[in-house]
Amino acid sequence: MRVLFVCLGNICRSPTADAVFTKVVKDAGLDQVIEIDSAGTYGYHEGQPPDPRSQQVARRRGYDLSGLRGRKVTADDFDRFDYILAMDRSNLADLNALRPSGSQARVQLFLEFGAGGPGAEVPDPYSGGSSGFDTVLDLIEEASAGFLAHLRAEHRELMKPDQ
Ligand code: 4NP
Repeated sequence: MRVLFVCLGNICRSPTADAVFTKVVKDAGLDQVIEIDSAGTYGYHEGQPPDPRSQQVARRRGYDLSGLRGRKVTADDFDRFDYILAMDRSNLADLNALRPSGSQARVQLFLEFGAGGPGAEVPDPYSGGSSGFDTVLDLIEEASAGFLAHLRAEHRELMKPDQ
């Protein structure tokens, strides 16, 4: 099972989701079953580490973002990944425009797996103050738990933790 988190720059929200969900999956003993990556719809930060503000806020909660590097979404991602999860509706629209016909990937908003429900977004923190980065983490932690519960329910055979 392969999961790709997508935002605009791949330096704030999607690397945060990548690191948080990686920890949730590892803690559940499912790191051999679920592969995780992140990308941006906009290539400007390709090859760059996550934003220092994202790294700092994440580090305080025990997540290490330092090894991640920005990359842009590619057409191949739509074949490779089972789930492609957008942080906001603009990312989702961009993904749907890039999506090759025939792709089987489930492309949807990440927060639909959290308490936010349909249409809920992880707000872009890039141009705002530091509290925006904490909000991003709160939303992502909550949705990560909900998404793992979804994967367990939908893919029971694959998600046995003793495998
Ligand atoms: P992200 O945040 O999409 O969460 O990585 C942003 C990063 C960079 C820019 C915008 C949003 N930018 O305009 O450079």
